[in-house]
Amino acid sequence: MLHRVIYASEAVGATGTSVLSIAQILGESEINNRRDHLTGCIMFHRGHILQVLEGARTDLDRLMRRLLADPRHANVRVLVDMPITGRAMDEPMSLCGDPAALLERAGLTGIPNITANEAEAMLELRKAA
Ligand SMILES: Cc1cc2nc3c(=O)[nH]c(=O)nc-3n(C[C@H](O)[C@H](O)[C@H](O)COP(=O)(O)O)c2cc1C
Repeated sequence: MLHRVIYASEAVGATGTSVLSIAQILGESEINNRRDHLTGCIMFHRGHILQVLEGARTDLDRLMRRLLADPRHANVRVLVDMPITGRAMDEPMSLCGDPAALLERAGLTGIPNITANEAEAMLELRKAA
């Protein structure tokens, strides 16, 4: 059974602002997620992070434990955690290249206070793009 987790968090220090910090996260995610059959995408916007993760429960739980302990972000809030019948993402980890545009299309100004429904709606918009 596949599950989807969507969480929001707050970037610490240079996380998400420097190319290096983003490349580091994408690099390790690519290797680990491929190994664990996880797929997902990530958005960095004005010091806030939104990440979608899909895969088997045990692999997701193991990753969430690592993510909760990672000092590069804080205040991890799980918005969505539900069983799914198919994946919306097909790459181990993709970067949302134009977060401001996607947020705007979803009628949002930023990641803070985003609801589960809004996060799901944004995923639909991204899938359709
Ligand atoms: C915002 C953010 C997103 C991350 N996403 C992933 C991810 O999708 N997969 C992953 O394995 N690690 C991810 N990481 C890194 C993990 O927190 C952790 O450092 C890493 O998985 C440890 O890998 P290792 O056990 O191979 O050293 C992310 C870190 C941050 C700060």
